[in-house]
Amino acid sequence: MNMAQSGMAQSGMERADIAFEVNGAAVSVSVPPVRRLSQVLRDELRLTGTKVGCDAGDCGACTVLVDGNPVCACLVPAASVTGACVTTVEGLANGRLSALQTSFLEHGAAQCGICTPGLLVAATALLERNPTPSEAETQDALGGVLCRCTGYRKIIAAVMDAARCESSTDGAAPHPPTGTFSPYSDGEKGEAPAPATPSPRFSRGEGKGEGQRQPHGLYLDLDRRMPISGHAVGASPIRLDGLPKVNGTEKFGGDSFPADALSVLVVRSPHYHAGFSFGDLDAWTSARPGIVGVFTAADIPGKNCFGVIGPFADQPALAEGTARLRGEAVALVAGEREAILDLDLTDFPIAWTELPHVLQPHEAKAEGAELIHSHRPANLLTSGYVERGDPEGALARAAVTASGSIETSFVEHAYIEPEAGYAYMDGDTLVVVACTQAPYMDRDDTAKVLGLPVDKVRIVPTATGGGFGSKLDVSLQPLIGLVAMKTGRPAALAYTRNESMMSTTKRHPAEMKATIGADAEGRITGMVFEGDFNTGAYASWGPTVANRVPVHASGPYATPNYRATGYAIHTNGPIAGAFRGFGVPQATIMQETLYDELAGKLGMDRLDFRLKNCLRDGCETVTGQRLDSGVGIGECLEQLQPHWARALAEAEVFNATNTASKRGVGVASCWYGCGNTSLPNPSTIKVGISASGDVVLHQGAVDIGQGSNTVITQICADALGLPLERFRLKSADTAITPDAGKTSASRQTFVTGKAAEKAGRALREKILRYANVSGEATIALDGANLSIREGDAARRIDLSELEANADGLVFVAEETYDPPTLPLDAKGQGKPYAVYGYGAQIAELEVDLKLGTIKLIKITAAHDVGKAINPVLVEGQIEGGIAQGIGMALMEEYIPGRTENLHDYLIPTIGDVPPVEHILVEVPDPEGPFGAKGLGEHVLIPTAPAILNAIRHATGVLVTKVPATPSRILAAIREKEARR
Ligand code: FES
Ligand code: FES
Repeated sequence: MNMAQSGMAQSGMERADIAFEVNGAAVSVSVPPVRRLSQVLRDELRLTGTKVGCDAGDCGACTVLVDGNPVCACLVPAASVTGACVTTVEGLANGRLSALQTSFLEHGAAQCGICTPGLLVAATALLERNPTPSEAETQDALGGVLCRCTGYRKIIAAVMDAARCESSTDGAAPHPPTGTFSPYSDGEKGEAPAPATPSPRFSRGEGKGEGQRQPHGLYLDLDRRMPISGHAVGASPIRLDGLPKVNGTEKFGGDSFPADALSVLVVRSPHYHAGFSFGDLDAWTSARPGIVGVFTAADIPGKNCFGVIGPFADQPALAEGTARLRGEAVALVAGEREAILDLDLTDFPIAWTELPHVLQPHEAKAEGAELIHSHRPANLLTSGYVERGDPEGALARAAVTASGSIETSFVEHAYIEPEAGYAYMDGDTLVVVACTQAPYMDRDDTAKVLGLPVDKVRIVPTATGGGFGSKLDVSLQPLIGLVAMKTGRPAALAYTRNESMMSTTKRHPAEMKATIGADAEGRITGMVFEGDFNTGAYASWGPTVANRVPVHASGPYATPNYRATGYAIHTNGPIAGAFRGFGVPQATIMQETLYDELAGKLGMDRLDFRLKNCLRDGCETVTGQRLDSGVGIGECLEQLQPHWARALAEAEVFNATNTASKRGVGVASCWYGCGNTSLPNPSTIKVGISASGDVVLHQGAVDIGQGSNTVITQICADALGLPLERFRLKSADTAITPDAGKTSASRQTFVTGKAAEKAGRALREKILRYANVSGEATIALDGANLSIREGDAARRIDLSELEANADGLVFVAEETYDPPTLPLDAKGQGKPYAVYGYGAQIAELEVDLKLGTIKLIKITAAHDVGKAINPVLVEGQIEGGIAQGIGMALMEEYIPGRTENLHDYLIPTIGDVPPVEHILVEVPDPEGPFGAKGLGEHVLIPTAPAILNAIRHATGVLVTKVPATPSRILAAIREKEARR
């Protein structure tokens, strides 16, 4: 029932004094001998650089060195390190960053950074014995550490290149603690006012602290890659928030729990669908020393219902009498940390009555099926629809048609950081410090559940160790908030891997069918698409998926006659929500595999067929939106042509001489509308200059690893005309930063970036107006002096003499940008997005015909990003998206009750991602900041269909249930052989 307790956490056992060395210093702790070393490091020694992603030896995030050897600290009993030397990430630098840490920064090998300590430690052990490892040796050494963001390629490059970085850092003196750049002004990211005794260091939200700098302790020569003023856009400076990710000081959701916080356990449903009632909770509580209280839905003071899309909100924070999915929260137990560690919930007073359940959409839709929500007939959450022209007539008249059906599976986000955070009362304000992608949405939902005005809830995002869509929904925020409100004590909770996987959202499984027709010249004439998307027990982002899919199911191709319908169907499965692409990756598999079939029937080259049909400037989309400019799919496909020809030629040679394996080459495209679908979608950015000459950027867009902290600052810097190194970030905090919206739907570079561009330009205008000069003047900062030059004339403004506002700013501008969209009508016609991004990928692979296994050879990816604001970060997004696409295509299948951990649920490891060649296409969009388009979702979309098309090219069979596991590939091959 309770998933939060695990093997070695036995605080009730007798304690032992254990002495060992950590990072060169002697330490002694008094803990039970079998206490996990990871817990000892984090909880007793406060060395939170060692991360915990699974507590089961599956993720490697907890990797430390014991006497020089890498081990998973979560599997090591504390007693076994008696007398040993332990090295954690905090011990890798010795006054200056190690060459490896520097190399990670230079290569952009850390995105969210939650895996980075484990990787750095494991790679350090490798480099100790082999300073110049090969790619294979690097992959072997790091094979036990998972990364969900990067796609590993930059990690491999960073490790192999560390020796070079050593020589380059040898000559560079570390910056002194008064270095010119500090991305966080008020302490390290994720730290908030301490609940008991606020210190000046943590002064966010109090209007103080401008101009203060907090050294991280270790300094890198960050200026080495700093672009000169006016040239930040298009450069690849080291990510501005990179340093704490490599030196172990980054604070994620579980890294800064107050010492006096109560621990919270969540009691969850073991059933897919069940009624329940509680016994004597008071008696159970009072019989257990250290347990402070049990809280149920009856304790919730507000509306026990949340959801990301208001009209569809249907999810209780704590279930009331009925649980609708396995893992649903039904009660909270709060207590002292040691009491909770020891707690046995097997006799928790709850009685369950199992109810009939449905897990598949076809079961849920069947007549007489159990209704999951009584007010939603036939278990239909909602549907989306787009119709244009006469699709049936066009298909009837088509020279060739292709029809098919595809099923996909639940896909788990599998970020390495399970949900974690703490809450406390600051006077009458509830403060929640937790990982998230959407602080303002968290605030609104938490306030609603807890019956508080929104201005009495403050969300302080910590660093977020991956999100990919799932951390858009609230998870633990109202739960720890409830405990903090009820007890007056800080309340802390870190989900176990198991409860994270059971209770948070997944990618929607889809059951899709479609028919596409073309004329004899190979032009698409019509398409009909229908898809059921299993949205699980609660709405989450189901409406978004149902609406976004019909808009995108045509792919980036001119389709004059079209009908597409997407249904979001409730089941008792996991809640399906946002996951990189909002249903578009699934629909693209359907469309792109049919495109290959059509090309085959027409006798056309598959890439040529796509080029013939792709959208161009001046085309109309299936929603009737005219795309006047900025359509880059044609250029993406053209850029792939030489790679396509080479890959096909190599496959032909390979296949002529190999019988056991066959090589295949596949291609697929993507397009994706950036931001919300036909809904308001604003971001607001504030930027100012302090009396001491710092440019202070209030940047409320949560950087979950994708790089928005850096990219948005680059945009603002060039719009303002001041150098990047003068910027300091005020990171997201609902009490301080204006709302920059959620980090999703590939909107931050475009929408928040545009707001940053506007704010930068507005600030520049204010300064120039103050100086009474024209817009052609240049501005520069020299300490606390602002110099303005126009032709031969120069003017100097001593900023310290100007009056500062409450934020300590002497010049300030705040701007909002909301993309211009139009609603969709009943036939789905309208302008759903202001900007689209495009891309296409080629997959090369070999299929073992006896085993059904796949060996990926190479992915070539061409993506039109409008303008690559930071090319290294763009490459990182492409590689990370491809890795997730590989997982979706070949291995990832979340099955409730069976794959609720990272041992049984497989995600790509460092050995699973082949070399990636990226081609950055820059077809500027007039709406985007400096022409930029979004990127985050796009990069995953073409990968799975390109792989499936490559498998078919190699074997002649299409696998119609994704992932294409070896058994499914073999079954398809055998079926084909049986038909011969
Ligand atoms: Fe130790 Fe995952 S936390 S391997
Ligand atoms: Fe590796 Fe995020 S950077 S998990």
